[in-house]
Amino acid sequence: MQDINKEIVGLRQEYSQSQLTESDVCKNALDQFNKWLEQALKACVPEPHAMNLSTVSKEGKPSSRIVLLRGVENNGFVFYTNYQSHKGTDLNANRFACLNFFWQALERQVRIEGIIEKNDLKTATEYFHSRPRESQIGAWASTQSKVINSRKDIEDAFQYYQDKFKDTPLIPKPECWGGFVLHPETIEFWQGRPSRLHDRIRYSKLSNNEWKIERLSP
Ligand SMILES: Cc1cc2nc3c(=O)[nH]c(=O)nc-3n(C[C@H](O)[C@H](O)[C@H](O)COP(=O)(O)O)c2cc1C
Repeated sequence: MQDINKEIVGLRQEYSQSQLTESDVCKNALDQFNKWLEQALKACVPEPHAMNLSTVSKEGKPSSRIVLLRGVENNGFVFYTNYQSHKGTDLNANRFACLNFFWQALERQVRIEGIIEKNDLKTATEYFHSRPRESQIGAWASTQSKVINSRKDIEDAFQYYQDKFKDTPLIPKPECWGGFVLHPETIEFWQGRPSRLHDRIRYSKLSNNEWKIERLSP
């Protein structure tokens, strides 16, 4: 254990690839996000759409996990999940949430804070049907975040739904499965710089839907 601690204490990454200036950035925070996401895709960052989602329960307890961004639509960030999962229960009680992307290869982080709502049923159903059939069956089989007795339970449930839907060409979307969209109130773009003097540019949404742009101390 001590050896590991020694090793991580000694890790030092100097960030020097790029910079972020007020004159570089787009006026609209979502345009700036799309620009960085496109650059992450071009740079072959592994799973650049993987993002940390933080939620807070009604008792005020925070929790986080990775989910996949499935689109930047209707001024929001869309992901799909089980509405009865831990995150679903949190979001049902408390609509404030936070997303975080870390694109290590580009020395970049993006933090997005905002308010969540369920996305519309038609979009969720269309997306559900675009997934591989096995993933659709998986959504039926999983009682996401609930305790199960063994691996066998979930494999049996998968087999059960595979048999149940064997003659069903279009598997219905489970009611408990669907999308959320996070509407951002602030988006912060972080670019690593030498000597820990990182660039941080924060967008805050104004009541007229324009964005205020400010620089934050690293
Ligand atoms: C790379 C990666 C992508 C994931 N994508 C999703 C996703 O899009 N939706 C989802 O519900 N869970 C996804 N998961 C699983 C979640 O991290 C988490 O384990 C699960 O949603 C249960 O979370 P909860 O108990 O906090 O609700 C992903 C995990 C990883 C590591």
